[in-house]
Amino acid sequence: MRVTLDGRNYRLQPGESVLDGLSRQGLRVPSSCRAGVCQTCMMRATSGEPGAAAQEQVKDTLRVQGYFLACASRPDSDLTVALAHDDDVSVPARLGPVDLAGPGVLRVPVAPDEPLPFRAGQYVTLQRPDGVSRSYSIANVPVRKAGIQPIELHVRVRRGGAMSGWLASAPPWARLRIRGPAGSWPRTKGLTRMRSPTWWHTTSGSTPAARRPRRRSTSSATSA
Ligand code: FES
Repeated sequence: MRVTLDGRNYRLQPGESVLDGLSRQGLRVPSSCRAGVCQTCMMRATSGEPGAAAQEQVKDTLRVQGYFLACASRPDSDLTVALAHDDDVSVPARLGPVDLAGPGVLRVPVAPDEPLPFRAGQYVTLQRPDGVSRSYSIANVPVRKAGIQPIELHVRVRRGGAMSGWLASAPPWARLRIRGPAGSWPRTKGLTRMRSPTWWHTTSGSTPAARRPRRRSTSSATSA
């Protein structure tokens, strides 16, 4: 299979994802989880089909523009792609005053520059100005009213953690970008089920219990 980007062709090996194929051949495509969760690797297909799995977690407004997740795309035919426009897939935001929510856990308020509606149980991806990205579950409760609602994240500080270290020392009102929100935990006949692999989200584990699924993944959350 062949992927074309900026007029250059890149061969994919059998079963290889678009992200892995481009990275193997020296392209720096933004990525983080490489597991179809964080949406950092979002690209746009300008011709060809990236595959249904690569668009499953992409919101409708982006899907119709051809956006897909490069780490989840294993196309069956040739594909022409473009890098995502930041303005399409993320919104600018300001960091609020960061303080401690508990031992080793930061309370991180983030104010998007424009309304960013979210639902309980969803997560967002923070993107530093240098492109480093990490995903976190949203810790506060959505308010049903128009306007901009700050998003609160609880982030466990890890030694050497690229994002948690930056958040711990970032100046107040530092600029960053937010992707998302994404993910949902719909209830089905008494069972709460995760539609996205939220085990990957870099939470503190202190997300309100009301928002956690009754049956949790056995994988532990990580932070960085
Ligand atoms: S790197 Fe593809 S979704 Fe995270």
